[in-house]
Amino acid sequence: MKRILITSALPYINGIKHLGNLVGSQLPADLYARYMRAKGHEVAFICATDEHGTPAELAAIENQKSTEEYCTEMWQVQKDLSDRFFLSFDFFGRSSSSSNHELTKQFAKNLDKNGLLKKVEETQLYSIEDKRFLPDRYVIGTCPECSYERARGDQCEHCTRQLEASELINPRSVLSGTKNLELIKTNHLYLMQSKLKDKLLEWIESNKNWPILTTSIAKKWLKDGEGLQDRSITRDLNWGIPVEKNGKQWEGMENKVFYVWFDAPIAYISSTVDWAMSKNEHSDYWKSWWLYDHGAENVHYVQFMAKDNIPFHTLSFPATLLGANSSWKLVDFIKGFNWLTYEGGKFSTSQKRGVFMNQALDLFPSDYWRWWLLSNAPETSDADFTWQSFQSSVNKDLADVLGNFVSRLTKFTLSKFGKLIPKGTEYGQDELDTISEIEKVFGKYDDAMTRIEIRKATSYLRKIWSIGNEYLQRSQPWMVIKTNEAEAAKIIRFGFNLMLFISDISDPFIPETAKKIKECIGNSYSNRQWPSVKQNFVSIFENVEVGEKVSPIENLFTKIEDGYVLDLEKQFGGIDN
Ligand code: MF3
Ligand code: ZN
Repeated sequence: MKRILITSALPYINGIKHLGNLVGSQLPADLYARYMRAKGHEVAFICATDEHGTPAELAAIENQKSTEEYCTEMWQVQKDLSDRFFLSFDFFGRSSSSSNHELTKQFAKNLDKNGLLKKVEETQLYSIEDKRFLPDRYVIGTCPECSYERARGDQCEHCTRQLEASELINPRSVLSGTKNLELIKTNHLYLMQSKLKDKLLEWIESNKNWPILTTSIAKKWLKDGEGLQDRSITRDLNWGIPVEKNGKQWEGMENKVFYVWFDAPIAYISSTVDWAMSKNEHSDYWKSWWLYDHGAENVHYVQFMAKDNIPFHTLSFPATLLGANSSWKLVDFIKGFNWLTYEGGKFSTSQKRGVFMNQALDLFPSDYWRWWLLSNAPETSDADFTWQSFQSSVNKDLADVLGNFVSRLTKFTLSKFGKLIPKGTEYGQDELDTISEIEKVFGKYDDAMTRIEIRKATSYLRKIWSIGNEYLQRSQPWMVIKTNEAEAAKIIRFGFNLMLFISDISDPFIPETAKKIKECIGNSYSNRQWPSVKQNFVSIFENVEVGEKVSPIENLFTKIEDGYVLDLEKQFGGIDN
């Protein structure tokens, strides 16, 4: 048994996330967490809302609420949505929790003690028209690296370079569009990342098995040195973690808070602390996940995120951890994602373009979405959501293959054998061949899941569903029963065993359906171990007990009509459509 720590990039608190956000971090992280738990490993799957920074303040003003009140409400909204998507976090915390305040200050103190912080007088953009400082995302301008014209003050989305607002060429306010900006001098704390360059490079190079997307982004910024410039970790804002040391105001840092990208990743740790507290665990428990001298040397740590987050997780956050002291657990594997687009363009909150998590669930059950999103995950390149592709994967994969298999099997059994799964004859050649065909594909499926190659895994899973469906089609119990009841009974018995196996291995992708399927043969089959190719594979198909009661199963999936697709295309196409 291994110990697996899994974190998903923390969703910003402001607003409900769209499907692109979901597939770029939380959903694939959930897939992996479910898989690892089923394999019998000890899993800590941690997420939280990322609550600081200007977007939270602004959204609160827009909603006429205090920032605190707004964040508390939105945390609940995001929590409920993640439950409805069956995201199986062990803990869904908040970066504004008191433990994160404490830990963030502690990190700053240790970095300072190690000579890695310096006070720098810097010039800060102030908007005369907006009457406020314009940190980070409040300014856009031209990227000094790639000349992209809509780079934000914290990062260029186009080339992923991390930026300081004052580096932007031709900066303008996001709020009013004004270019009437003043540069005002003020002090900030800088993390001297450049001093950690060698350590970071060594660490990055030691991670030979990272996906290409992750390593290439990390190395690009590390080699150019641009990503490793010393960076300010404080901001002139009200909302956030006050810059304090030993319970007192940090000298010269009045009215400042820590930069959101400094405290947010620390919330991975503090949420583990909050989780441990919620379970009344011993205070060493969270340390066993995060500190090398407390057990974390046996932890395998995997992070999930979209590609714009990669520099922060391969450079800035490791710099914080390595700089503070040498015993913090570093990530072992970073699974990064490209973008999901919507009908060929960008998802846009302001343009109301694309599908958001709440709307998605109002339209279709979560498994429809989970299946489409995971089977089209933007792993090696961007992926495009279209309603037609969604319709086709629901109708073909889910309804025609998986749904059809389960429904024919259960309906036939109920009508011909009453409510019990019959014994019938011993398995014959066809059953044994089917098992060995499945065994081959399952081995590949299992490998792909271990390596978190999601699209590959989906195609093997889909293949196993069709092997099951084809078996039933080929063996025709509804014909066989006319002449040989025992033979038909065998087909049914094998069918239910296939069904249980399929339900077990489909759970990481479509947990609600997997559970529903199993429930038709009673509730003694929940929480089962992941099958292993090492065991006697045939015996897996003797698991459903003869004489088990069968209950009817309602329609697993409803097909999506063409006309409805047209409606949906109109409805979600954005305000100009
Ligand atoms: N909120 C950020 C985003 O959505 C991700 C923060 S990840 C963390 O891009 F590690 F910093 F928390
Ligand atoms: Zn750029």
